[in-house]
Amino acid sequence: MEFSIKRGSPEKQHCACVVVGVFEPRKLTRSAVSIDDAARKHLSDIVQRGDMNGKAGSTLLLHNVPSTACDRLLLVGLGKEKEFHEKEFCNAIRSAVKALHETGATDGTVFLTEIPVRKRSVAWRIRQAAIIAQDTVYRFNQFKSNKNEENRPLQKVSFTIERQDELSLANEALAQGLAVAEGVTLARNLGNLPGNVCTPAHLADTALQMAKDHGLDCQILERTDMETLGMHALLSVAKGSHQPPKMIVLQYKGTKAGKGSKKAADEKPLVLIGKGITFDSGGISLKPGLEMDEMKFDMCGAASVLGTIKAVAQMKLPINLTVIVPTSENMPGGSASKPGDIVTSMSGQTIEILNTDAEGRLILCDAMTYAERFKPEAVIDVATLTGACVIALGHVATGLFANDDSLAHKLIQAGDEAQDRAWQMPLWDDYQDLLKSPFADMANIGGRAAGSISAACFLSRYTKKFSWAHLDIAGTAWKSGADKGATGRPVPLLAHYLLKRAGKLS
Ligand code: BES
Ligand code: MN
Ligand code: ZN
Repeated sequence: MEFSIKRGSPEKQHCACVVVGVFEPRKLTRSAVSIDDAARKHLSDIVQRGDMNGKAGSTLLLHNVPSTACDRLLLVGLGKEKEFHEKEFCNAIRSAVKALHETGATDGTVFLTEIPVRKRSVAWRIRQAAIIAQDTVYRFNQFKSNKNEENRPLQKVSFTIERQDELSLANEALAQGLAVAEGVTLARNLGNLPGNVCTPAHLADTALQMAKDHGLDCQILERTDMETLGMHALLSVAKGSHQPPKMIVLQYKGTKAGKGSKKAADEKPLVLIGKGITFDSGGISLKPGLEMDEMKFDMCGAASVLGTIKAVAQMKLPINLTVIVPTSENMPGGSASKPGDIVTSMSGQTIEILNTDAEGRLILCDAMTYAERFKPEAVIDVATLTGACVIALGHVATGLFANDDSLAHKLIQAGDEAQDRAWQMPLWDDYQDLLKSPFADMANIGGRAAGSISAACFLSRYTKKFSWAHLDIAGTAWKSGADKGATGRPVPLLAHYLLKRAGKLS
């Protein structure tokens, strides 16, 4: 789909569909009034008859509105004007694009981006609109025989701005939004792939292809490399699988000297680590069968960091970013790790594996130790780590843990601004005792109580050398039920954080 920014009167738009908003109860927005004036109160009339009262989420499609140049007019209910904030704006864009997509229109001009949102700039509205539009029209049809079931003609969407002097900012925000959306799409696509296709090797191939497309450095560590490095925690997870594990390292260097940047080329990178379990059966501590298919989504952390670096590369942000993806299957089998096994991690710390289903932390801990060699400015890991996080926060907020409150604060703020929220959980030393083992330096589980916190405590033992945050996306990375599928979260949060860090937000 193509996107552009436009300015002008809604009644003069020559396009297949113009979209304007109506507040509740029956209050026309500025652009709706403009059409209403041209159309001799046609809209006032409709609104007075009660066909569109402005209720949030409602839409009404009109044809042949007098004195307008467009084929169709879509009215979108916005809810009460006083309550029209970030979330309501995003929902309105979503309803508009969904309805547009369901009409026979090939192109649409959306005037909703002109509506003010408290605390938010024009650039924010355009960026959000682009991300939401792409998210709304996303389909995963790769494995359907009939890929074009819906046969939707919508090809072009324009978002409007009120003033000409907003044009360059709006265009920049549009480009940013589309780059973030591409990252989200990549994360959703990888997440939705079945486990028999999206193997560790597939993730590695994807990274190599991305490196070619975007000029990134890519290195794939194989099993033998891991053995040399002493990554026995990671290796212990891969033992039961026929799929060889990989450790993917992708580097984006946006601060190269001579590219108009004052920064040094060797500026410390931010490191993102993503959990890449391409299928989590639980291993010998086998999971119950119900909904086990959803454990193909256990690589959504990996997918999200790959999506983020793709967005960053596309936006050419002046930052250095390194992505590390430890990836493996977690399977039972004759050579699989067993409860009670003890392994030595790359850090030298020993781990008693009391439950082979607590495998995420085992692959992450070696990736964290490996990250030390990049002398990171900060490390953020993203993982579908614990079922307990779903119990704590549901499917709304990502769980956030950090050994640096300033980093935590910035990530929470980025999540708020990008409408991809995270909520901080405690990482107090009091919880460390949960991981005591009589035989090794630590156990890999801490019991049912405070399950997400003990998992984060485990990781914290491998992050002493840098500023670190951990995002537990077990509840936010995918949806179950009728619209089962990967969400692409937290790509919007991470991309927003990096945009801000690069000073590219307006
Ligand atoms: N990938 C799962 C976590 C998970 C479970 C995410 C359900 C989303 C939905 C992880 O590897 C796991 O199995 N964790 C265990 C840890 C336990 C054994 C300490 C869990 O949460 O049950
Ligand atoms: Mn598991
Ligand atoms: Zn897992």
